Amino acid sequence: MTTPVLEARSLTKTYGRGDARFDALKGVSIAVQAGESLAIVGKSGSGKSTLMHLLALLDRPTSGTILLEGEDASRLSAKQVNRTRNRTFGFVFQQFFLTPNTSVLDNVILPLEIAGVGSAARRRRGMEALDALGLADKAKNDANALSGGQKQRVVIARALVNDPSVIFADEPTGNLDSSTGELVEDMLFRLQQERGITLVVVTHDADLAGRCDRNINVRDGLVVPSGRHEAA
Ligand SMILES: Nc1ncnc2c1ncn2[C@@H]1O[C@H](COP(=O)(O)OP(=O)(O)O)[C@@H](O)[C@H]1O
Ligand SMILES: [Mg+2]
Repeated sequence: MTTPVLEARSLTKTYGRGDARFDALKGVSIAVQAGESLAIVGKSGSGKSTLMHLLALLDRPTSGTILLEGEDASRLSAKQVNRTRNRTFGFVFQQFFLTPNTSVLDNVILPLEIAGVGSAARRRRGMEALDALGLADKAKNDANALSGGQKQRVVIARALVNDPSVIFADEPTGNLDSSTGELVEDMLFRLQQERGITLVVVTHDADLAGRCDRNINVRDGLVVPSGRHEAA
């Protein structure tokens, strides 16, 4: 067995305290294999986004361990965590999180700026990422002046620009109509297949989950057995 790219061991997450205390995760253990597409599915409020945020090192568990390539993530310094989020992970969320009054290209190259990449390389890599998403001709447009599907493709270009090994997508098609959503899904799966990027998708869309190699079903903060989709 190869070391999983990500592993969660006995994760719990409790929000709030006192009467407002809520156990969002109650002991979750999962492994994510390099190159696979994994859907985290379940009803609204079941703990899917919480689990994804912990795996992506966007938040810390109340107890339990996250292993990144077999290394305990709690041993990473704040700087190393930031570096991992910026360079190893790419993010696609339901809300597009693009900066308005800023060009499409400048939105895409933001992670490269954070990583300290020089301006010529930023531009070249930003244009490559936009090209991969079929948006090179929109590079100079205001990010606001795009359709929802185009915005989400810009977000994917931005997630891609640092050549990540894992892309986390939380309800990536939740704000799109079904045909636009399908196009965005096609692009995510193409990146997974052509570049070997690991895809972790949170969704309650059965069609999107069905396209993933494997599903993890979360209910009330616990993983429950679910159907398995074997990779073709
Ligand atoms: N920051 C927070 N503070 C308090 N409760 C939260 C917070 N984030 C999520 N929750 C609660 O934790 C539960 C799981 O949330 P979430 O992981 O977002 O579920 P899902 O993504 O499956 O809809 C929900 O009941 C939600 O209200
Ligand atoms: Mg959610």
